[in-house]
Amino acid sequence: MKILVTGGAGFIGCNFIYYMLGRYPDYEIVCLDALTYAGNLKSLDGVKNNKNFKFVKGSISDKELVDTLFAEEKFDVVVNFAAESHVDRSIENPFIFLETNVMGTACLLEASKKYSVKRYHQVSTDEVYGDLPLDRPDLFFTEDLPLTTSSPYSASKASADLLTLAFHRTYGLPVTISRCSNNYGPYQFPEKLIPLMIVRAQENEALPVYGEGLNVRDWLYVDDHCKAIDMIIHNGRVGEVYNVGGHNERQNIQVVRTILRQLDKPETLISYVKDRAGHDLRYAIDPSKISNELGWEPETDFDSGMKKTIQWYLDNTEWIEEIKSGEYAEYSRRIYG
Ligand code: NAD
Ligand code: TYD
Repeated sequence: MKILVTGGAGFIGCNFIYYMLGRYPDYEIVCLDALTYAGNLKSLDGVKNNKNFKFVKGSISDKELVDTLFAEEKFDVVVNFAAESHVDRSIENPFIFLETNVMGTACLLEASKKYSVKRYHQVSTDEVYGDLPLDRPDLFFTEDLPLTTSSPYSASKASADLLTLAFHRTYGLPVTISRCSNNYGPYQFPEKLIPLMIVRAQENEALPVYGEGLNVRDWLYVDDHCKAIDMIIHNGRVGEVYNVGGHNERQNIQVVRTILRQLDKPETLISYVKDRAGHDLRYAIDPSKISNELGWEPETDFDSGMKKTIQWYLDNTEWIEEIKSGEYAEYSRRIYG
């Protein structure tokens, strides 16, 4: 089996490559990644000498490059992680989100159709469902909900989902889509809540909590997401959407306090700052479909997942230092002062 993994130098993509080559040593994986600010070849150090792994630098929205790659490699399966993924950046500049998340997906779909791939899998997000109210803990995202997005990021991801389903209906392309809740774990870029708070707390810097910190996210350890995608590409039904989440809801402030406790840092580091524009209140996944159809269940609970994650950041200061010296330094100054 030969798999194209796009965005494999990013957080979830690199964890997926490690997961798949560990589980299926005979599979071949080609990673296509543009190495934007969020992509880091160092994250793939552990597979760079694996004879079944190959890295190609390039953009999924480069039509010619994508066509040539598909013609040469004859992929069986495509898993598209490549995206602009940070909501705050999409509020600052939506256009690159449309270019990569919508046009890039269209390029991959077109090549997948032309070269008859056996499965195109789109890695999507629960954010395409918009948000749930904070005072209705009985409500959850199910696959049949309409897409009602809030941010330019989620709007671009929803557009990509609709295009993916259109390629199935119109051209018969064998597609699947997963919509996962917030991930955490090793190699996550420190602009996202959990690594941001770990890295800043370590440096005794103020921890910027948006609004009152009462917004709720449904956290999943990254390996459990990788396992879900593995199950979907092997056994998922073509044309179907699968929600992925482990019923692990936390208010942001609870997550920040957990990190402070584990690092033995004081709560005085918490700084309540101006709320994010259009800030989604609550995400919460109903994972019954993937659980009933494919037998997927999460394996890592929040306590042990957070311990592993914090330890990883403590052990990998070089990885973080490199990021902090690049484009991120300027972004961080602009956003957090
Ligand atoms: P990330 O920002 O860490 O990584 C994105 C990767 O895509 C980077 O390596 C980057 O270089 C690459 N990339 C960006 N533009 C590209 C382009 N035009 N061509 C090729 N490569 C490009 O993102 P992530 O958190 O790993 O998310 C991966 C996917 O999972 C995204 O599609 C995201 O929407 C989805 N998702 C993320 C989460 C989460 O909590 N992080 C949850 C659900 C779904
Ligand atoms: P984030 O990691 O950006 O993921 P998403 O917005 O895609 O869910 O943010 C998670 C939550 O944490 C979200 O409610 C916004 C909040 N947040 C802060 O309070 N402070 C921050 O500095 C960041 C980046 C996020």
